Amino acid sequence: MAALVVVGSQWGDEGKGKIVDLLAKDANVIVRYQGGSNAGHTVITDKGTFIFHLIPSGVLYRGKLCVLGNGVAIDPGGLIGELDGLKKNGIAVGKRFLICQRAHVIMPYHKAIDKAAEQAKGARRIGTTGRGIGPAYVDKMARVGIRMGDLLNPDVLKKKIQENLVEINVFLRRIYNVKGFTVQAIFKEYQAYGERLRPYIADVPLLLDRAFADGKKVLFEGAQGTHLDVDFGTYPYVTSSSSCSGGACTGSGVGPTNISAVLGVTKAYTTRVGGGPFPTELDDAMGQQLMTRGHEYGATTGRVRRCGWLDAVLLRYAVRVNGLTSLAMTKLDVLDGCKELKICTGYRYQSKVYREMPADLEVLENCRPVYERWEGWTSDTSGVTSYNALPRNAKKYLARVKELVSCPIDMISTGSKREATIVIRNPLVRSKKTS
Ligand code: IMP
Repeated sequence: MAALVVVGSQWGDEGKGKIVDLLAKDANVIVRYQGGSNAGHTVITDKGTFIFHLIPSGVLYRGKLCVLGNGVAIDPGGLIGELDGLKKNGIAVGKRFLICQRAHVIMPYHKAIDKAAEQAKGARRIGTTGRGIGPAYVDKMARVGIRMGDLLNPDVLKKKIQENLVEINVFLRRIYNVKGFTVQAIFKEYQAYGERLRPYIADVPLLLDRAFADGKKVLFEGAQGTHLDVDFGTYPYVTSSSSCSGGACTGSGVGPTNISAVLGVTKAYTTRVGGGPFPTELDDAMGQQLMTRGHEYGATTGRVRRCGWLDAVLLRYAVRVNGLTSLAMTKLDVLDGCKELKICTGYRYQSKVYREMPADLEVLENCRPVYERWEGWTSDTSGVTSYNALPRNAKKYLARVKELVSCPIDMISTGSKREATIVIRNPLVRSKKTS
């Protein structure tokens, strides 16, 4: 049995798509367990550039089973668009794509509430992707959500829409002054989605159990990142799901004893989209350089990402709350040519230096980072595939990060293409347990 969970160690956009795509080659099953179409995973292959919002990026390999677990919030219209896009590019998913019947559905009113609530928040807005993620998870927890299995039963679907709209329409009109929805229009649209997606809707926990029993290798593909996790992130500037490794179990119906390793993906620096604290954010030419060289634009919303130095406090916390067994560092080449590099090792707030991640937003918003300075390198690392070929100072940088966060680095990405990767150890192959 081997199961590897891949999570983001920062605020998302760490390059998980590329890492998962590479690892998927050695996996049999790839599972998304949380989030929804707020995520955007970019994979560049010789067939072109693919941006996935919902479907696991492993779908590009033939013969791999790709699964959306119960923890994913599914926008069925968007999902059908993604399936159609793949078909157009010659990739037929056939029977190798499954959706958990227990996964919750994003309804049009979730998107309307998301957008209206953000607008009403003014300066304190979260900067959500506007995809209805938060309101869909609110309904799940309030026990009024509509699940993928409900789309297959017209009576249940209609009743649930009717019941929900009684409250939601009043809420939208009175609180946000936004037009409400009609039952019939939503019912027709979503019933049709159900019929289209019927062949894919299945009992995912049961199938995953069978996969484990058959000795298959399972890869769990996290979306967003540790610091966007609803519990462990920079609350309330977070997404509404469990993006940490624990979410892999609750979001797919797999017990924790099945997980053999957890890989954390981190950029060689830090980025964030949306609002919220970011202690190492750079508002200067260096921040601009990272943004330009790293093409730091959101894959889902196209927003410019905020950029800053690598934050070892943030990363050490990610190692701890996810139980990371190793790291993959992406975009090392973006640091090429920097005379000096900084790594944050603490946050100074009032008279105290915090060496561990504080939960207090007040501290995170007003602290000053404590930096170590490291000499940069001038040579070009883009496309480098061997650790030994890296410049001496790049090796020193990597070794220092490893030391500061007490976690080995298994993979280093030096470019957007699949081949531009240094694999020191394959964490999926290595995670094989002898039972
Ligand atoms: P939501 O997930 O759309 O509710 O947005 C909540 C916060 O998470 C916002 O700051 C978003 O910018 C951020 N966010 C959501 N998904 C992603 C992602 O895939 N990458 C980076 N940030 C994300």
